[in-house]
Amino acid sequence: MCGIIGYAGGGNAAENVYEGLKRLEYRGYDSAGMAVIAPSGEVKVIKKQGKVSVLEPYIADIRGAVGMGHTRWATHGKPSDINAHPHSAGGIYVVHNGIIENYAELKEKLIAAGETFISETDSEVIAHLIKLNCDGNILTALHKTAKMLTGSYALMVMREGEHKIAVLKYRSSLIVGYGEGENFCASDRPALAGKCDKISVLEDGDFALISAEKIEIFDKDLTPVCRPKTENALTAEKLGLNGCPHYMLKELREVPQTVQNTFNSFNEVKDELSEVLSGTKRVIFLGCGTAYHAGLIGKKYFETFARIPAEAENASEFRYKDPVISRGDAVFAVTQSGETADTIEAALLAKSLGAKVIAVTNVPQSAITRCVHAVVPVAAGAEICVAATKSYVGQIAALYLCALTFAGKAVTPKEFKLLSELPAALQKTINNINVYTLAHMCARSGGVYFLGRGYDYAVALEGSLKLKEVSYVPSEGYPAGELKHGTLALIDENTVSVVLITDSALAPKSENAVEQVLSRGGKVAVITCLPAVAKRLEGKAEIILLPACNKFLSPLVSAIAVQELAYRTAVILGRDPDKPRNLAKSVTVE
Ligand code: G6P
Repeated sequence: MCGIIGYAGGGNAAENVYEGLKRLEYRGYDSAGMAVIAPSGEVKVIKKQGKVSVLEPYIADIRGAVGMGHTRWATHGKPSDINAHPHSAGGIYVVHNGIIENYAELKEKLIAAGETFISETDSEVIAHLIKLNCDGNILTALHKTAKMLTGSYALMVMREGEHKIAVLKYRSSLIVGYGEGENFCASDRPALAGKCDKISVLEDGDFALISAEKIEIFDKDLTPVCRPKTENALTAEKLGLNGCPHYMLKELREVPQTVQNTFNSFNEVKDELSEVLSGTKRVIFLGCGTAYHAGLIGKKYFETFARIPAEAENASEFRYKDPVISRGDAVFAVTQSGETADTIEAALLAKSLGAKVIAVTNVPQSAITRCVHAVVPVAAGAEICVAATKSYVGQIAALYLCALTFAGKAVTPKEFKLLSELPAALQKTINNINVYTLAHMCARSGGVYFLGRGYDYAVALEGSLKLKEVSYVPSEGYPAGELKHGTLALIDENTVSVVLITDSALAPKSENAVEQVLSRGGKVAVITCLPAVAKRLEGKAEIILLPACNKFLSPLVSAIAVQELAYRTAVILGRDPDKPRNLAKSVTVE
């Protein structure tokens, strides 16, 4: 949700900032801009509506060794050249990720004090406040300004004539990177991949001054502090497309490795997790979007293996419902990025009410990891496509192991065999899956309904989300049994119903749903790992036959099918699956 990057060094600032912005584009891509200080001390600004590439024609003309940039996901004010960052006032330039909640009140006061605003953004107030608070020292001006702001902010500030960047972090992520003769600051790791050997994660309330020579970090009272330096393991190669036309496809292909790596990483946290979960009487899964859908499967794993009450809820709903939490409750906060504002706030709320909180996340050291009792890693590696793919499957794999561990269930030799064979089964699914016919059906349809029971229903919800997210084809996920209670009214010859059937015990019931749709003229596709189901429905429905699979692990296999379907449909319709319209990957605002 907006990405920011700063550079100070001996290189070309505009090129470094541009490269960083390209790598942060998954955080927003409706407009972009940068500010660079020329050797003379003058600041040159370029900002445009559109994806980061709109800046490319201009960067050759911008000379300077210190600069900062922003790629935007609009919150206040439509995407436009004027609303793009940086915003400026009296020689102060600002890029901002977050939301200033009291901006309207501040703006009114600033206008009364004679300031003139040109944008509709909340962020512009920051530039004006710093201008008025600045008596020559940019850091103290920023410190004074911070006390006036309510909301969330990762901020970078430059001042005409000064060859450094002042930064401030509060409830939006910010890291600094130490290079040789050059230093960086950025929203997230991908921006710094291959750029520097060490990074530090800033804490809430931290300030920093970044120059070519050094990075100085200060706490909320401007006392100098050290933050741990860690290796910057992400390389530029790991962020490449690896021969794929889109990140979505590349990341889908990385599902087997993700599951293998997640299994391996789990062993390192297993004992700590058992300790944190001891005495747990109820578990609650919180997350947003795809992560919430992974939580729905986690809930089923805990109910089945541990026989304790389990719930899954959208983090954004949980926060505002005055939740009933007691000691003995454990909350799993599931989040790929570890940055989603609603998930973090919901986790903090649960913790304050006495729950044990466990983060299930793909990003080590992300914000969520710093406010929970234990962290279960999802080892998917960087996920660039806005729509989650490999991280979803990794989350399910991690939750499967969490449930088994909590249940104290020793993995039997049979289960062990299934688990160890899973990455190969996922690879086989990827190698053999063919959803082209179905993707064409979906691309031509007026609506696609994903139906299933039990685990299949949870995957149906994710299949529907994925399809609408990247192809914009209207879609809904429904429990197969609910079809006759409403959805059937929507079925006609222009609709496609995708029925997931992976549990033989529930198959006859789900097959009823297939027949009910067919009787009303709807087109049907069946995603199944049961050859008998495929045989029975052949000729009536488009069949996607998956490798045979244990019913508890079937969500990992059928997830590949629905993700592949969404991807192929998006490509047929000429959409950009990596950057769907209006969306962003890390939703750091509420
Ligand atoms: C956004 C993304 C989704 C993602 C959700 C939760 O909506 O577009 O792909 O599932 O945020 O993100 P998180 O990082 O918390 O898993």
